[in-house]
Amino acid sequence: MSTYSHIIGTGSAAPERVVTNRDLEQIVDTSDDWIVRRTGIRERRISSLERPENTAEMATKAAREALEAAGMEPDELDMIVVGTVTPDRQFPATGCMVQTALGAGRAAAFDISAGCSGFLYALNTVHNAVRCGAAGKALVIGVERLSSVLNWEDRGTCVLLGDGAGAVVVSAGSDNGGILSTHIRSDGQFWDLLYAYYGENHIPDSLDHLDAKPFKLRMEGNRLFKRAIGCLTEIAVEALEHNGMTSRDIKLVVPHQANIRIIQGMIRNLGIPMEQVYTNVDRFGNTSSASIPIALNEARREGLLTPGDHVLLVSFGAGLTWASAVIRWSMEAVLSEAEDAVGCAINQAPAAIFPGP
Ligand code: ACO
Repeated sequence: MSTYSHIIGTGSAAPERVVTNRDLEQIVDTSDDWIVRRTGIRERRISSLERPENTAEMATKAAREALEAAGMEPDELDMIVVGTVTPDRQFPATGCMVQTALGAGRAAAFDISAGCSGFLYALNTVHNAVRCGAAGKALVIGVERLSSVLNWEDRGTCVLLGDGAGAVVVSAGSDNGGILSTHIRSDGQFWDLLYAYYGENHIPDSLDHLDAKPFKLRMEGNRLFKRAIGCLTEIAVEALEHNGMTSRDIKLVVPHQANIRIIQGMIRNLGIPMEQVYTNVDRFGNTSSASIPIALNEARREGLLTPGDHVLLVSFGAGLTWASAVIRWSMEAVLSEAEDAVGCAINQAPAAIFPGP
């Protein structure tokens, strides 16, 4: 019998502090009008270390909400996979910090670095682990504290990015559906279009790097922009074709939230109306690995997903990496089936314990 991988819980978390475009006008030469017109971003969340809202904390909060939605205890998890490029420590993995914070003692935990595609790369890993029987229940988390690598003097990047976390619980099941396929791609020849300079103790390999600020993000936005729309379209089409679908079969697209113009460009290519696309880039900016699971959680909570709906997830980011997934939404159906099974087991228990004469 085939094993399928179903999303049975979603959650998200974001720092409390809201930084608006007007706030940024105070620190760099920019304007609300420019940011809104070029990106669609109006505000973003920026973490505070006092609360604390570091990477592991935000990931744990999102994971707890996803586990609660799934009605699951952390010690049922076999695997925790975290997509992030902004861990609190170079090592150990954020996944291990989340594991201990949750009390998920049985789980194998590790991180994946795939730029803004980190969540879909992690979902791909878990989907395949579940399908081949290596894991029965797993957490997939996308989390970033991009504010920790931002150069707040660079108007070309500091207005774009934000902090946050999203998580899904994936469970093995025998019902056909859930995650139908995942697709991942990369092209390392463009790695230097977006990167964070590496470490306070880094020994510069040329004099050009001597003035570099440690851990600061550098980006060639315009060149990224041009590649993004093509790569997103390509991997979305690959996912649809793999499942014998056309864009008409998709109920909702949940894309990486980098820039509304990138999303519109891809959607135009796919021939899908914008009403069928979930966007929250105006409220969160680009949260890299966290953007898709935050958006998916919001879409679920807003009642936009019903069992049987086909959902397309699609991302593009540093690496370069790009990725997609097609899901036949099944969360509520799987959970109600599990509830019925528990009810059945309880109803049958007395007969089994006290067999008749
Ligand atoms: N405020 C005002 N002016 C600005 C700002 C700002 N915050 N930032 C740049 N400008 C200026 C530039 O200096 C430039 O001025 P100039 O013409 O006098 O030299 C002008 O605006 C145009 O700059 P471009 O970089 O050509 O503007 P573009 O239309 O490409 O928009 C942007 C820039 C928003 C960064 C866009 O390229 C983009 O979104 N790229 C993708 C970046 C991204 O999201 N990266 C993250 C990961 S990859 C991904 O997720 C897709």
